[in-house]
Amino acid sequence: MSLARAGGATGRAVAALAVAGLVGCAAFGVASGARAGEASGAAYPQGATSFQANCAVCHGPAGAGIPALAPPLLSYPASYAANAEGRRQLVMTVLFGLFGAITVGEQRYDSRMPDFARLDDATLAATLNFVVFDLAHAPAGVSPIAAGDIAAERAHALDAAAVREHRKSVAPP
Ligand code: HEC
Repeated sequence: MSLARAGGATGRAVAALAVAGLVGCAAFGVASGARAGEASGAAYPQGATSFQANCAVCHGPAGAGIPALAPPLLSYPASYAANAEGRRQLVMTVLFGLFGAITVGEQRYDSRMPDFARLDDATLAATLNFVVFDLAHAPAGVSPIAAGDIAAERAHALDAAAVREHRKSVAPP
């Protein structure tokens, strides 16, 4: 049985443990994010700092995800970044959140990611570039996400369920 499908007491215990562990990780991440990003030679150190402050609590400090809670960011983001609609998907996910069942690898997630519209365009672009290049290792030929790409999507607000609908046409098979 996968963790995502583990129900009842086991599922709740796993979730409680994960949350308890995450609080520790998040505190560590906020305190050390900037230094960790620079020390580890991240291509996007400002994105690394933002990731530790805003994303690591759910996706883990290294983006490996948390079973049954939030998906890993180590592979799919590179494939999204390789085409225009996938790039829009990444931007929409951080701007508007994501709600409803999705599959990443073999694992099913059925939860809600909050929106990060409060972060400015440059910060969101740097955060996504850290995910795409530093975590998911997109090849150097892929263009970075620009602040203007964030601004363009901000102009057409969507709800988090519509972001999931759009994902169907761009997610890896
Ligand atoms: C409160 C927990 C939480 C936080 C904080 C969070 N996420 Fe998420 N994220 C999720 C969940 C849960 C999903 C899957 C949502 C679903 O099941 O529909 C997700 C999905 C994603 C996806 C889509 C993956 C795919 O394969 O389509 C990306 C990209 C992503 N998150 C990036 C980020 C970034 C970047 C940040 C920080 C700016 C962030 N997340 C912050 C919980 C979170």
